[in-house]
Amino acid sequence: MPYPQALKELIKKVEATRPERVARKKKGEEVPFMSLDERAATLQFHPDVKEEGRRALLVGPSKGYRLAHEYADLLEAMPRVDPDKVDLSTPHIETDVLVIGGGGAGTAAALLAQEQGAKVLVATKLRHGDANTMMAEGGIQGCSKGHKDSPYYHYLDVMGGGHFVNVPELVETLVTEAPDVLQWLEHLGMNFSKFPDGRLKTMHGGGTSRKRMHYAADITGAEIMRTIRDEARNRAADITVLEFSPAVELILDDQGKCAGALLYNMETEEYLVVRAKAVVMATGGSGRLHVQSFMTTNHYGATFDGVVMAYRAGVPVCFLHTIQYHPTGVVFPEQAEGILITEKFRGIGANLVNVEGNQFVNEREPRDVEAAAIIKECTKKGLGVPTPTGRFGVWLDSPMIEDLHGPGTVEKEFPGKHILYERFGIDISKEPMLIYPTLHYQNGGLEYQSDGSTRIAGLYVAGEVGGGVHGENRLMGNSLLDILVFGRLAGAAAGVYAKAKGASLGKLSLDHVRVFTKELQESKVGADRVSPLLLPDYTLLDTKSRQLTSHYVGSLR
Ligand code: FUM
Repeated sequence: MPYPQALKELIKKVEATRPERVARKKKGEEVPFMSLDERAATLQFHPDVKEEGRRALLVGPSKGYRLAHEYADLLEAMPRVDPDKVDLSTPHIETDVLVIGGGGAGTAAALLAQEQGAKVLVATKLRHGDANTMMAEGGIQGCSKGHKDSPYYHYLDVMGGGHFVNVPELVETLVTEAPDVLQWLEHLGMNFSKFPDGRLKTMHGGGTSRKRMHYAADITGAEIMRTIRDEARNRAADITVLEFSPAVELILDDQGKCAGALLYNMETEEYLVVRAKAVVMATGGSGRLHVQSFMTTNHYGATFDGVVMAYRAGVPVCFLHTIQYHPTGVVFPEQAEGILITEKFRGIGANLVNVEGNQFVNEREPRDVEAAAIIKECTKKGLGVPTPTGRFGVWLDSPMIEDLHGPGTVEKEFPGKHILYERFGIDISKEPMLIYPTLHYQNGGLEYQSDGSTRIAGLYVAGEVGGGVHGENRLMGNSLLDILVFGRLAGAAAGVYAKAKGASLGKLSLDHVRVFTKELQESKVGADRVSPLLLPDYTLLDTKSRQLTSHYVGSLR
């Protein structure tokens, strides 16, 4: 729906301050970045600081570690299948490498495993490419030719953004592989946004000291996914894709090596035993758990499944005590609630302004600081904009982009968002967007090494399901990079391992599931829950509290 009259009146305050803000921007005058002390004070408004939002795990390899209740609930839950009822003696499918997940990380892994001579099976919960990668907007970081940058600066930015607790080896791998990944994408036919002379366009993201965000308008993830999915289809002789077939349990062999997975066919409701010499876990994130009742940018399938399965098999988790809330999600119109408004809007110059029309923060602070500043403005300061659905947000002043860069820029640079808002009768080149932080990214996940390997031989990890590279806060554009860097490395390593060592697999076993279940029973937790979740449940409609699931309390649709 278009903005109602009450919001149109408030927009006049944004318009009143715009000429001065545009003039300042044109002169290069910025609201100063916060000092480290100011950042620390602002972060007190970040959802991560709420200790009551977390609890310690009672079972498994990371026992004692405190993380969100929503994560703990799924890690401490009963398996979907009774191991005693599964016949592992005659696998339905045998392959060299099984990739679990058909998003960007899984598809990149499949391509590189295939290049090692491996036969690859990609098992994906929904359609191939139906994943968070497809929804990513703003860009992919990486040093490229013609820009005054180097992996050295990229490294410092990643570490700074992550509060300097990132795993250094993973960060080094991320930034040094980045230029090759950009070239690889170009070589495969990705359409980056470019200058007429062929140089790649770049821009700033929050927390970056150099302009190294490469993009394809505001649909970068869709363009990456199109490119690599096409390539996987071109190699269909070696890469088979099984859709609507999520994994529900990893299978180990009798020596503890990873030996495949149990898949669930969502159409026929049958279980399939896959014997694989190596497995790449690439199931993505967990936004659909709506931690602390936040709305989310995430894809329907983002339900934490990979972490659950690998944890049960013995892989520890890390950095899950922090979660990323993207500063700018749609808070009105309610039909689009939670949807990402790319950071690129701020990178190109749009201000965040409060109900009085005043800019209150530098738009290029690291994400956690930016999100906390918005929450503070709407809560402690009481300067949020009230929405017709009883929530609060702040304005993202997109029309000023037209004043800064010329008429037509918003539609040209942000076609995806322009079309989205047009459906509601809002022209974002003329009216600002109403936004609030939205659950975006799982900063942590499974522990892994630079080649994707884990403490279980034959099990590799790639993308958002892993933790460590982004420390306690990821910067924009490092996720699309992460999935391709570690997708490629994990795929290559799994391919080599499968060809060299995988032939010596022993007897297939689900004993680790039996052991984990016993531990749960002894600790008296999780008996009333089942995981992996596979799909979020929006059916438990409680009309009194306007609650759509046991967790999410967003607007009624
Ligand atoms: O703002 C964005 O476009 C998001 C990018 C990212 O999370 O990397």
